[in-house]
Amino acid sequence: MRPHETITRSGERPTPPSSIASSMPVSRIREVMELAWADPEAIHLEVGEPNFPTPEHIVEAAHEAARMGLTRYAPNAGLPVLREALAEKVTRRNRYGARPEQVVVTQGGIQALYLTLRALLEPGDEVLLPDPAWPNYRMIAHLLGARVLAYPLVAEGGFLPRLEDLERLVTPRTRAILVNSPSNPLGTVVPRELMEGLLAFARRRGLWFVSDEVYDEVVFDDVFVSAGSVADPGERLVSIYSFSKVYAMTGWRVGYLVAPPDLAKLVTGMQEPIISCVNTPAQMAALAAVTGPQDLVREMSDSYRVRRDELLGVLDRGGLPSSRPSGAFYVWTSVSEAGVPSMDFARSLIEREHVAVAPGSAFGELGEGYVRLSLASSRQDLLEGTSRLVRFVRLLGEARC
Ligand SMILES: Cc1ncc(COP(=O)(O)O)c(C=O)c1O
Repeated sequence: MRPHETITRSGERPTPPSSIASSMPVSRIREVMELAWADPEAIHLEVGEPNFPTPEHIVEAAHEAARMGLTRYAPNAGLPVLREALAEKVTRRNRYGARPEQVVVTQGGIQALYLTLRALLEPGDEVLLPDPAWPNYRMIAHLLGARVLAYPLVAEGGFLPRLEDLERLVTPRTRAILVNSPSNPLGTVVPRELMEGLLAFARRRGLWFVSDEVYDEVVFDDVFVSAGSVADPGERLVSIYSFSKVYAMTGWRVGYLVAPPDLAKLVTGMQEPIISCVNTPAQMAALAAVTGPQDLVREMSDSYRVRRDELLGVLDRGGLPSSRPSGAFYVWTSVSEAGVPSMDFARSLIEREHVAVAPGSAFGELGEGYVRLSLASSRQDLLEGTSRLVRFVRLLGEARC
């Protein structure tokens, strides 16, 4: 009997849940988080959310909206005033022209991704996804019955997509490619020339290009390029954004996508049976975020950069090869010297050293041998947790010899 199955009084088995629902892969990051929550002493380096509170003027805007009675349903695509502000933001800060009718406000970046892939893929269609990558991409593909073609992001390629890998993997059944820059978990940023090459590849092969840019303003070295800013006019491109990471608003659940007008209209219609619309006071908070002072965004990124530099010093002295992130807030570190699978490593690290990290295998097959450390943790936790990690890798490595 399946875990959710019950038997009715007449002894009949009711229809079981769909096989897609019951075979949904579980997140290994969640598994680590749950172990860590059970340990009151744990240092948390596994979580992917800012350790800053949402700025006060944003919280105040939501209060004000609720007090003023902005508590009713909103249009499926979002409040017009917010769509206008977002079109303006994309035009000015992401450096490509977008009109309000191309913007759809969603329940976080994750819903923008789900809607986009739902709109583009039939069951059995293929989508090119990075490996390693944020695990939720695969989960969405699973829910849609789509086939994943994993393209490698490995040290030899500077943890960036390589055109030759894409050419090798693509087939007539491939419909879309997803590119994530700045990358979770790698922190890499796709440079302009490569972005142009990736767009040209998608154009040549007749693919939709989905550009996940949810970390667009969490950048350290000013090298970030939005796909839209180098795309041809009328390109089959959907860009995904979020308030979660940039404005420390993970729990507010507001994101948006920018798409060609026809596709934006299509996904707007798909909002109705899923969420109808995004929470109205949260949309007003998002409006305050995008139109208000931006120095807080810069200050948060500056803190991540300082932490990155200190953390890389500790890892370097400990002899652990690591990525040097240019954006997002993660460091990708090799723990292969420990000689155990990354999930086992993560479990033992909590048990023995009270430090939680995200195991590399949670992000794909090519993540094996690595762990992801989040810079969105306090400086003290980061330095202490990483010193313990270095010591633990050495201990396991020596035990192997
Ligand atoms: C690469 C990437 N894309 C999209 C998201 C979605 O974020 P949210 O749904 O909170 O906007 C995340 C969150 O961790 C992420 O890391």
